[in-house]
Amino acid sequence: MEEKLTSGVSQLDNMLEGGLYRGSNILVRGGPGAGKTTFGLQYLIAGCREGEKTLYLTFEESKEQILRYGSRFFPDIRQFAKDQRMIMLDFSPHSRTRSNTRLIEGEKVEIPDPQVVDSIAYIEDKILDIRGQSIQRVVIDGLQTFATTFYDISEKKDMDELRRTVSKIMVLLKDSNATTYILSEESENDCNKYDFVNYVVDGVVSLKSNPSLDVRTLKIEKMRGVKHTLKPITMELKEGSGISIAASNKGI
Ligand SMILES: Nc1ncnc2c1ncn2[C@@H]1O[C@H](COP(=O)(O)OP(=O)(O)OP(=O)(O)O)[C@@H](O)[C@H]1O
Ligand SMILES: [Mg+2]
Repeated sequence: MEEKLTSGVSQLDNMLEGGLYRGSNILVRGGPGAGKTTFGLQYLIAGCREGEKTLYLTFEESKEQILRYGSRFFPDIRQFAKDQRMIMLDFSPHSRTRSNTRLIEGEKVEIPDPQVVDSIAYIEDKILDIRGQSIQRVVIDGLQTFATTFYDISEKKDMDELRRTVSKIMVLLKDSNATTYILSEESENDCNKYDFVNYVVDGVVSLKSNPSLDVRTLKIEKMRGVKHTLKPITMELKEGSGISIAASNKGI
């Protein structure tokens, strides 16, 4: 039997025949405010609470904002960040100052050339470092900014290059046996250049806001090697505990 690890949401683990396969990569898609960041944090926090080391790469919100909002759902998040059980790398626009300094792991670091850090090689180094540090869970928040951070700088605008870059990172993560969530925006008229990611990952979970019913739903779009429902499931966001699957879902 292959080893499984918790998704952070116990009812979702039941829907996934016990959880996620170690080493798998999962795309978490959703519109604005659908709960992607919370879902990603909850997954890491679950590992931290078991004593695992985890890595969170933020490309949109600053580390400080993630901790501030995150602590409303997960009161222990600051402690995990402090004791480095949750290593947070801040690549958000907020971390870039006008001078040649960047915030890296909470430290102001002088960078002779900002492109050194804005390079795919830097991320690769960090990921290769995962093995040494035995990091088991990784969240990349989010895919579009992550890709463009490197893509614009490399000035290689062709789709093949984008695909190669994203695939390379996935392979590196898989090889280091980390289980990864990639959080991604979802546009309504879905014909976007990131669609290919749906096909290269092991699993896809989509989160949706349903304004007319005033609920959020979670749907397992795919999970390789797992028998699962395709029905959207209603989820709840609660202060102090984060995401749970609503009891109103029948048969889950
Ligand atoms: N303390 C709270 N209790 C309940 N719900 C909250 C609380 N704080 C935020 N929310 C809800 O959670 C939503 C944000 O969730 P989250 O940041 O995880 O979504 P996201 O999909 O990552 O959003 P974005 O597209 O901006 O990255 C907010 O829009 C709000 O509706
Ligand atoms: Mg978010």
